[in-house]
Amino acid sequence: MIDKIRTALEQIIDPSLKQTLKATGGIKHIGYDDEKDIVVLIIAMGKKGGDYEKTLRKEIAKLIKIDLQHKGLKLEIEEHRVVNSITHSKTIFIAIASGKGGVGKSTVTANIAYRLMKRGYNVGVMDADIYGSSIPQLLEIPHQNPKYSEDKKIIPLTKEKMEVISTEFFTNPNQPVIWRGAMLNSMLSYFFYEVKWNKKTDFMLIDMPPGTGDIALNIHSFAPQTQMIIVTTPHPSAANVAIKAGVASQTMKHELLGVIENMSYYQNPATKKPEFLFGQGGGEMVSNSLKTELIAQIPINQPLHHTALYELDEEIGRIYDMIADYIIIKTLGE
Ligand SMILES: Nc1ncnc2c1ncn2[C@@H]1O[C@H](COP(=O)(O)OP(=O)(O)O)[C@@H](O)[C@H]1O
Ligand SMILES: [Mg+2]
Repeated sequence: MIDKIRTALEQIIDPSLKQTLKATGGIKHIGYDDEKDIVVLIIAMGKKGGDYEKTLRKEIAKLIKIDLQHKGLKLEIEEHRVVNSITHSKTIFIAIASGKGGVGKSTVTANIAYRLMKRGYNVGVMDADIYGSSIPQLLEIPHQNPKYSEDKKIIPLTKEKMEVISTEFFTNPNQPVIWRGAMLNSMLSYFFYEVKWNKKTDFMLIDMPPGTGDIALNIHSFAPQTQMIIVTTPHPSAANVAIKAGVASQTMKHELLGVIENMSYYQNPATKKPEFLFGQGGGEMVSNSLKTELIAQIPINQPLHHTALYELDEEIGRIYDMIADYIIIKTLGE
């Protein structure tokens, strides 16, 4: 009986979040009193009160009493979860998008997070790339299942002081990730609402899945204040898809912080001349057409000390430090 009620309830839309209760994880409790045929529900919604709550109550009453033919309904609506979540804090959300995979989106995300942490900020990273989650490897975080706090929240894993959550932590190593497009919303809902992030997180970086329209839409429904950084390579094919990703986020009214061109050139140590292995001009093309800034051009080079992170004794590390400066000034005005 309870399963049947749950399946039906999961399809109901929370009007304040414009997502199903399944996606928002809004079904908190389902009880059933056999004798009296009463259904007892605790439902969490994004914003309580007003028309939103009225609409939701009406929908649920119709489902339980008319569609499922139960005699009684005791419905409690709460808001708690969302209001106490990271989206209702002073945290600055920055999503890194690229359109195309393999351009260095995750490397850029990890390094920006690392440099902001080294500056003393509280930093969180959401690895939302369900198709190619790689943040844990880049940050050298060994695979482990996250633990739960007493209030049943997921405790993020850490790299030094940086807090990290990834789709990968919820799957077995080497197993293909089962979360795909349709699962994206419920995964994001976990990341935004069910993770016990540091309440004082200054920056939350989101490594987005490759793609253009839908994903911007997903992020928007959780944190419309999210600002975007677009990553491209110098190659026109990468640039064209990056523009599409940028346009999609601008359509959602997300502020663009700027464009980062990665793999811009290789400084040949023998000739001391740059070699443009992936062509030229992609970053400029993207920033011009989105009317935003080209924040940096990052050359190709292997990190000296880590798997993917660069330190300040490396040119790329110093470029990431400048990017951190840019972000701090743009977002905090410091
Ligand atoms: N500037 C760079 N120099 C050398 N290798 C890089 C650079 N940026 C990224 N890489 C490498 O390129 C590959 C793809 O990068 P990744 O960040 O995983 O891309 P994406 O997240 O866009 O798919 C990785 O193996 C990464 O180590
Ligand atoms: Mg990636």
